[in-house]
Amino acid sequence: TTVLSVASEAYPLVKTGGLADVVGALPAALAAHGVQVTTLIPGFPAVARAIDGAEAVHHWPDLLGAQAWLRRGEVDGHPLLVLDAPEFFMREGPLYTDIGGKDWPDNWRRFAALGRAAADLASGAVPGFRFDILHAHDWQAAMGPAYLRLAPTGTDIARSVMTVHNIAFQGAFDASIFFELGLPHGSFSLDGVEYYGQVGFLKGGLESADAITTVSPTYAQEIHGPDFGMGLDGLIRSRVGRVHGIVNGIDPAVWNPANDAALAQRFTADTLDTRIANKRAVEAAFDLEPGEGPIFTVVSRLTWQKGMDVLAWVLDDLVATGARLALLGSGDAGLERAFRDAAVRHPGRIGVRIGYDEALSHLLQGGADAILIPSRFEPCGLTQLYGLAYGCVPVVARTGGLADTVIDANEAALSAGVATGIQFAGVSTESLKRALHRTTTLYADAQAWRMMQLNGMAADFSWDHSGLRYADLYRSLLGD
Ligand code: ADP
Ligand code: GLC
Repeated sequence: TTVLSVASEAYPLVKTGGLADVVGALPAALAAHGVQVTTLIPGFPAVARAIDGAEAVHHWPDLLGAQAWLRRGEVDGHPLLVLDAPEFFMREGPLYTDIGGKDWPDNWRRFAALGRAAADLASGAVPGFRFDILHAHDWQAAMGPAYLRLAPTGTDIARSVMTVHNIAFQGAFDASIFFELGLPHGSFSLDGVEYYGQVGFLKGGLESADAITTVSPTYAQEIHGPDFGMGLDGLIRSRVGRVHGIVNGIDPAVWNPANDAALAQRFTADTLDTRIANKRAVEAAFDLEPGEGPIFTVVSRLTWQKGMDVLAWVLDDLVATGARLALLGSGDAGLERAFRDAAVRHPGRIGVRIGYDEALSHLLQGGADAILIPSRFEPCGLTQLYGLAYGCVPVVARTGGLADTVIDANEAALSAGVATGIQFAGVSTESLKRALHRTTTLYADAQAWRMMQLNGMAADFSWDHSGLRYADLYRSLLGD
């Protein structure tokens, strides 16, 4: 089986969030099940540098109004295709916005181009390439399946899979762009790309794909309803039997405390006591005074989705329980300020690093005691999985993938010896405060705490299982 996996990000080349981790991990995860994945991503500056000098294997004189080349490269030994369209992608800074955080006005053009290129590749219209499956991730790639169904350029048409990593980001644009997309007129319609009077990229992809997946079973259920479906729940409901929840795994080549170069001290379940060296390193890095209580960490986009506003409200309580906080994140300016202010209010107890730092994120997982994830919704979430693997106990809202991957330390789970973390229901200052108290109480019980750490470290969040589920899905679409 051959798959063209299309996305706007792939670790280690370009990353703004979990999407990149997953897209980067899929080729190896699927190779184990006899599926060959080729990844197609835009030629952002970092990507162009990484494949510097790669030959062009195809040329589009006019792809959504710009010249584009297809370049072939490799990433970690897996095939990579890069859509080199300098006019669209050669912009330094963030991927989707200008330096000031404003969406690029031509985002629709940039990512329609990505979809158009993907559909050409997946319909046999690019000489030398053919694929069984087109697998598109999120709205940036969603026009791939849409073009493939509504305006194919070749005749050897792949089956398609649309994966939703976050239904909150939909790629909806003014209706006036429709005529520049090169779609037949009839497709500005309910079963095409029309979406509440706009053009909806994710909507078009969901409508067009042969199968839809999302990144956890609970989120797959949640998006069937209006609270989480964000306007697309009706469409999701209409595609009965075609919506699958497949939980993300983690890439053991990147996230393994036994051989993680970013740690001050590597460790395994057998050498868990040496983990303390990482805690000391976290204290040093965040100017935290040494203390008895737990260190909570946050590694996150600072946004409403992640419940960071609620967390900002309970920081005084967190400190009052004797705990400390080391936070790494960036996002909404107001939230960045709130956390910076809290650090000034509580010197030595709250340390804040605003920014993006891959190595520091590893140290925090390997040195903090617990990772706080009070998300209002969370399609899967990866940081709780990294926490589990690194003995950093997750404290999570019971939603989406957080509900599916953490076993709450309730009485039954504690006495059966299977707890891996703390879950709380509903994201409010009250529920979060209670969760913080539960956590500090559990932390004081050294034996129970250690059991949770070891359970998390022993849990299997490798890609073995989910890789097989994707492979089975592809094969079912091909009628094998
Ligand atoms: P989302 O994709 O919604 O942001 P995930 O939990 O799926 O949430 O993935 C977030 C990814 O981004 C993880 O790999 C996490 O470690 C990383 N990350 C988030 N914020 C930062 C940061 N400030 N510095 C380093 N890594 C970060
Ligand atoms: C999105 C979601 C996150 C998920 C990630 C990878 O960014 O917000 O929950 O883990 O995609 O699938």
